[in-house]
Amino acid sequence: MKQIFLRSQNTIFIFDSGLGGITIYNYIKSIFLNINFIYLLDNKYFPYGNKSKNFILQRLKKILKKISNYYNITLAVIACNTASVSSLPIIRNYFNFPIIGVTPVIDLAIKQTKNNVIGFLATNTTLKNFKIRKKINFLNKKYKIKTISSSKLVFLAEKKLLGYKIKINEIKKIFKSWDNFKIFPDTIILGCTHFPLILNELKTIFPKNIYFLDSKKSIILKFKKYLNYNQINVKKKENVVLYTEKSKYIKQIEFLFLKKGFKKISSFKI
Ligand code: DGL
Repeated sequence: MKQIFLRSQNTIFIFDSGLGGITIYNYIKSIFLNINFIYLLDNKYFPYGNKSKNFILQRLKKILKKISNYYNITLAVIACNTASVSSLPIIRNYFNFPIIGVTPVIDLAIKQTKNNVIGFLATNTTLKNFKIRKKINFLNKKYKIKTISSSKLVFLAEKKLLGYKIKINEIKKIFKSWDNFKIFPDTIILGCTHFPLILNELKTIFPKNIYFLDSKKSIILKFKKYLNYNQINVKKKENVVLYTEKSKYIKQIEFLFLKKGFKKISSFKI
């Protein structure tokens, strides 16, 4: 895709429960130049996939409130499907900066499928979401939507990103119930920002020629609407990564973000 050089320094706040938001960060960074990023991982409450919708909404409200006291945010990106379906659009009412999110690309999968069987991988909280359930029930009249929710898959994705070996068999077990399908999905929705991190592993356990669809591209259109193209001569700031709990993986996390172009990592107590 064509790269876009912005004439001003925009501060983008990227949020995820953990490291999955990096898939969104990588994509944004590959297209828009001259952006200053603040990435916050709420590792204190990771994973979000087993938390209630209300818990996530309140948590996000608290985080955005505190973060906006410290930083001048151009745009907040909820780079987490679970947090987005649980908090958008309500959360927008509380802040005067724009907030966009990622949600599972169900409509895209409908356009893509030829055999009308669609796999839908997401967290438990995402799949339990009222709007998502309603949509799945409606679509199940014409299509077959096969869902799998798994926190284990989220943990495995983080593990891999932090440099640990993950066993294909562990992933296979998660999809045991798909073994006996007469017709296998030809399209699979990756409805969690962690899942593109293990795309290669997923490809090895499923039949060939499956379309995997994640949410990263949908963010770009929303993105262009809010960025500021008007000011010039803004000094380059440093990308910052914030974590909410000092975990035993913090050294690996720091190393990962340094490699990704972040200059500073600090704890954000909340
Ligand atoms: N990355 C998050 C998502 O897109 C969820 C991971 C979690 O369970 O915390 O849904």
